[in-house]
Amino acid sequence: MRKTIVAGNWKMNGTSESIRALLDGITAGVPVVDGLVTLVCPPAVYLSQVKELLGNAPVVVGAQNVSAQPKGAFTGEWSLEMLQDLGCEYVILGHSERRSLFKETDADVADKVDATLTAGLTPILCVGETLTQREAGETLAVVATQVDAVVQRVGIERFASVVIAYEPVWAIGTGLTATPEQAQEVHAAIRARLAGSGMKVADKLSILYGGSMNAGNAAELLAQQDIDGGLIGGASLKADEFLTICAAAA
Ligand code: G3H
Repeated sequence: MRKTIVAGNWKMNGTSESIRALLDGITAGVPVVDGLVTLVCPPAVYLSQVKELLGNAPVVVGAQNVSAQPKGAFTGEWSLEMLQDLGCEYVILGHSERRSLFKETDADVADKVDATLTAGLTPILCVGETLTQREAGETLAVVATQVDAVVQRVGIERFASVVIAYEPVWAIGTGLTATPEQAQEVHAAIRARLAGSGMKVADKLSILYGGSMNAGNAAELLAQQDIDGGLIGGASLKADEFLTICAAAA
């Protein structure tokens, strides 16, 4: 059975007060179901606070990024050792905002995934095409290139510990969502490609969908055979809406 993961990527949002209220809401109703992981990824400066507020609640914590470097003179960065120290279990890597706004390349992302696996945390590798690329019929090729760059770096066996998030760039924060059929097609293609690359456990890999997933469309998306959860931005900032998505995944 594949793990289902509902991950809230809070991006650069929140204050101590709003985060406390959000977590109160989430922990009051989070479903506890075998095989379901509920994850929140706050801004790094709030990781300690979130971990403390969660206590024993069945919600795990992840970061939105990490340095591939172990330590040293890298102002403004944080390391995997620091994330381990704070009890983080997951790291979102290669998010399209990191790729486009901060110029992270496939090689940078591969370095970070490699370092994250070595540290024993679970990378959530984000891949996805722009609207121009989709309209040019390049979706599967773009996603394959992004996945292959990491497979080549870490090896197909270690890649089995990666979680993939398929996030069409045109659907992120736009209110436009891939149809369940569009998302399913890409998810199935990623799984088939990994199987074709020699991954014996490709059917066990969790592949999440991200891009304007919300309380209204989650059930339909999550019902697809190869969609194993969601990476949720805007809708993860409202406890009720996030919990509705969790319930749909449970
Ligand atoms: O990481 C989350 C994705 O970028 C999706 O964001 O749900 O606000 O479209 P969104």
